[in-house]
Amino acid sequence: MSTFQAPKGTYDLTPPRSATFLAVREAISAPLRDSGYGYIETPGFENVELFARGVGESTDIVTKEMYTLTTKGGDQLALRPEGTASVLRAALEANLHKVGNLPVKLWYSGSYYRYERPQAGRYRHFSQVGAEAIGTEDPALDAELIILADQAYRSLGLRQFRILLNSLGDKECRPVYREALQTFLRDLDLDEETRRRIEINPLRVLDDKRADVQKQLTDAPKLRDYLCDACKAYHEEVRALITAAGVAFEDDEKLVRGLDYYTRTTFEFVHDGLGSQSAVGGGGRYDGLSEMIGGPELPSVGWALGVDRTVLALEAEGVELDLPATTSVYAVPLGEEARRVLFGVVTELRRAGVAADFAFGGRGLKGAMKSANRSGARYTLVAGERDLAEGVVQLKDMESGEQTAVPLTEAAAELAKRLG
Ligand code: HAM
Repeated sequence: MSTFQAPKGTYDLTPPRSATFLAVREAISAPLRDSGYGYIETPGFENVELFARGVGESTDIVTKEMYTLTTKGGDQLALRPEGTASVLRAALEANLHKVGNLPVKLWYSGSYYRYERPQAGRYRHFSQVGAEAIGTEDPALDAELIILADQAYRSLGLRQFRILLNSLGDKECRPVYREALQTFLRDLDLDEETRRRIEINPLRVLDDKRADVQKQLTDAPKLRDYLCDACKAYHEEVRALITAAGVAFEDDEKLVRGLDYYTRTTFEFVHDGLGSQSAVGGGGRYDGLSEMIGGPELPSVGWALGVDRTVLALEAEGVELDLPATTSVYAVPLGEEARRVLFGVVTELRRAGVAADFAFGGRGLKGAMKSANRSGARYTLVAGERDLAEGVVQLKDMESGEQTAVPLTEAAAELAKRLG
């Protein structure tokens, strides 16, 4: 094994690809920031109990995938496997639901950790941008979030994604359905582990990917037939609002999410170019989560979009983001005196808001010009002893190849002007 190897299931973000990640985070968060969502940041770890109670004791995330640790002080902590429980915990701790108007709308961006079997698109350390709207039950809020995710993906140029939509019912109707489903599932020919799942989390069985299991599920009771009137009306309103916004979606009765806190609206964004790890994002309503973690009743809704998979989706569709070069001016000094002078010009440019870089390390002209090219800079500033003696620097337009001598004292102003 090489000494320079990131841990299994993780990878580093390095230039130039890392620029795409930043652009994706920016593109996902921009519609949120424009829609009243405020930025929140919470610790990378929490008390393990928050996730056990919030995400659910019977979920794979909690039973198999959590990175847990005991501190020297004896605290049981877990690296966060997701953001919703943490954000709600933080909002309750800061009393945001009391001071502000409801809903409390928050967005976040960060690293999450799940001890999963690594494969393409599935990592042990990954990155999400998420949004949570806390404290309000209103179908327009569910619709807003779905529409904003659609807008984010579209602004990136993605087209081959689909929105899957479902309702999981509420605390009135879901238990009735759950029992009906359990009765149906107990009569099927299933392995031991799946039998255990029937007792703990029967809805998850519907999500089984195996063909022989799916074949037996054809006549399974449908949650749709068990939704209470309030849930039905709520869901219809969400569907109508999304439709009116011109956002296409597919009703997917089999959509059950891997976290226990969901009620009513649930949705997933899938991309058809990604193989088995096709979910680029997901979310839904979680009206009971606040009470599950010891808070007051605060019906809420949210989503998280996977940044890693969104980047993979862009690559799968062959979308190249239009990322402007980060450096506008590259300075190449020839000799000690020129070094000092041009370093000063670079500093001046930067202070004037022009992105500038410098050929460090005293390399020769050829190597330095190569770096200038690689930087993507529009202009190169070159100066040698003779130039300095004449009080000028050579300003080269890297697009046209044109080179002009500019008085040293005017170089920075001239560049700022040319770059607009
Ligand atoms: P989730 O579906 O578990 O939901 O994750 C959301 C997204 O994170 C997934 O659709 C996927 O793109 C990405 N993701 C998850 N696990 C991995 C992984 N191992 N490797 C790469 N990407 C991954 C949640 O986390 C909920 N907190 C969403 C939510 C917010 N619900 C309500 N509010």
